[in-house]
Amino acid sequence: MFKRIIGTKDILPEEVSSWQEIEEASRRVFSLYNYKEIRPPLMEEAGLFNRSLGETAEVVQKQMFLVNSAPISNGKQEKTKQFYCLRPEATASIVRAYLENHLDKTFGFTKLYYIGPMFRLERPQKGRLREFHHIGCEAIGSLDAALDIEVISLADNLLKEYNIKDYKIQINSLGCQKDRKNLTAILGKSLMQKKEQLCVDCQQRLGRNILRVLDCKNESCREILIKLELSDDYLCPDCKMHFKQVKEGLENLKIGYNVNPYLVRGLDYYTRTVFEITHNELGSQDALGAGGRYDNLVAELGGQSTGAIGFAFGVERLLLVTRSQGHKVTSKNLVYLITLGKEARQQGLKLLAQMRQKGISADTDYEEKSLKGAMRRANDLAASQVIIIGEDEIKKGVVLLKDMATGEQSEITRDQVLRQLSGRT
Ligand code: HAM
Repeated sequence: MFKRIIGTKDILPEEVSSWQEIEEASRRVFSLYNYKEIRPPLMEEAGLFNRSLGETAEVVQKQMFLVNSAPISNGKQEKTKQFYCLRPEATASIVRAYLENHLDKTFGFTKLYYIGPMFRLERPQKGRLREFHHIGCEAIGSLDAALDIEVISLADNLLKEYNIKDYKIQINSLGCQKDRKNLTAILGKSLMQKKEQLCVDCQQRLGRNILRVLDCKNESCREILIKLELSDDYLCPDCKMHFKQVKEGLENLKIGYNVNPYLVRGLDYYTRTVFEITHNELGSQDALGAGGRYDNLVAELGGQSTGAIGFAFGVERLLLVTRSQGHKVTSKNLVYLITLGKEARQQGLKLLAQMRQKGISADTDYEEKSLKGAMRRANDLAASQVIIIGEDEIKKGVVLLKDMATGEQSEITRDQVLRQLSGRT
């Protein structure tokens, strides 16, 4: 028997309603902030991510799902130099789409959101999959610190709408490209002397991407890092001012946050404000979502230089937390029809069609179950009402309507039942 690929999941019908709730809540909140949905393809040229995330980013180095894009002719696959990949994230795709579809020319400043699967070749564990889902947004075309504040407040409001509590917002500023170079130099000076004490991964990072050492989870690396006593001295006056405005703006909106000087994020495109939202419930993969500014990416991908910022939540992680916090999806009203006998079946099927026409969610038994079996099925489906039609009801020209919560039963006509149930939703 075939099995699903490691690191992927089947989202079964009983789970889908929680996904839909999160998606619907997201659409509601995004529209409050005037974000419009965009749906870019799941496949892109691999080069888009090499260029945007950086050749040394772990996602690019180790986690890309490359797709064989060579055409097949005469049954043989041709060689190709062009690589496609399953998108590991959406920010680069959105900027590509923004430029390719001239949204920069038609709209200038643009706010977009997206919901969909991402793919990374990672070692699966709790909260870490190879196919996972993002709910994210990108606001492209402004350097204003007010936008950083809006985007973080949007993330905060989304979490409130999902009913998630006890999350932590951490922020930092990586500054402009010059500041990043400063920070790299400061780190280089102090960490090179301690090279031997760092883990093997960090020893490699020293040469390739020293900033990544800062968010290493290894105990011995953490001890060394804490002693560095990092401050924001590497920021230029403009970037310092921008960061100050962001912090003040968050305080003004009463959004709780911590400044974490070790927060660097793993993707090269980030500049100035970066943030991560964590939750203790998640264990080692504790980020519910993350984002930041990427003021050089639009120019890097061929557009006019302009500021941009966004973030993405991992949907699987949101669901891990909502489930652990005991949120139950309220079952939608379902009416379950049980018929006994041929005549009752005919009348019942007509009533079933009429209920659906009136927007009442309704179902019936297709397995010729006994009354007891059909009642059990109605229970399993968490039906809110059951309609029973047997010989007696046919004779009297009524149906038996049972409320599953209270157990109350009443005999009413089909017209009455339609009126009563359609007024209920
Ligand atoms: P990211 O931090 O790589 O950022 O991913 C965002 C979120 O996706 C993470 O915080 C986590 O919740 C979830 N996530 C990441 N990898 C996995 C995985 N393997 N399994 C399950 N969940 C995962 C980005 O991708 C940026 N594009 C965010 C952004 C948007 N920055 C600016 N705009």
